[in-house]
Amino acid sequence: MSALTELCRQMASCHACGLAQQRTQVVPGEGAENAEVVFIGEAPGYHEDRLGRPFVGPAGAFLDELLALAGLSRESVYIANVVKCRPPGNRDPLPGELVACKPWLDRQLELIGPRIIVTLGRFSMQRYFPGQSITRIHGKPKRVGDVFFLPMFHPAAALRNPEWRKAMDQDISLLPRLLAELAKRSTPAPAPTATQAP
Ligand code: URA
Ligand code: SF4
Repeated sequence: MSALTELCRQMASCHACGLAQQRTQVVPGEGAENAEVVFIGEAPGYHEDRLGRPFVGPAGAFLDELLALAGLSRESVYIANVVKCRPPGNRDPLPGELVACKPWLDRQLELIGPRIIVTLGRFSMQRYFPGQSITRIHGKPKRVGDVFFLPMFHPAAALRNPEWRKAMDQDISLLPRLLAELAKRSTPAPAPTATQAP
């Protein structure tokens, strides 16, 4: 069993916060173990709680459309949430729940080692851009070391706001360019050509 699968197995029995009481099941996340791109949402909703998979309701259908726009398949990326259990009535996660759940996502990201992290919505953005406003910084990638962070609106919020929806299409279209840039950078420099004898 891979370390990531083992981690998700352990997560399934987590009771570190009160959300454990009302969930149907934990939604650890899913996708490629060596994904170059990881998408981080907020928390499971009704459909995710039922199926145990991230982004499978209407917001998930929209995310699938966005992935297709960027030429990416669900299988080639990893999709997870900052909070792994559904908050009752889809309320916002509480500060204590975010703190309790943080080590799970930290460890997932350590094991996957993505080159690009796309944050979906405010709660996910706050991990990397504390105190910032999403309306101001969405679609502006930030590079930290070897990793690009791309903040985007939450798909569920964008579905309710036509302008944000348009912004989502534009923001996701940055991904192919970022991936191309990363690929260029990781290509070894060509070997020096032997100097010709005079
Ligand atoms: N919204 C989220 O933030 N995450 C999901 O998995 C589904 C909807
Ligand atoms: Fe554990 Fe996170 Fe679920 Fe809370 S939300 S019980 S910390 S997995």
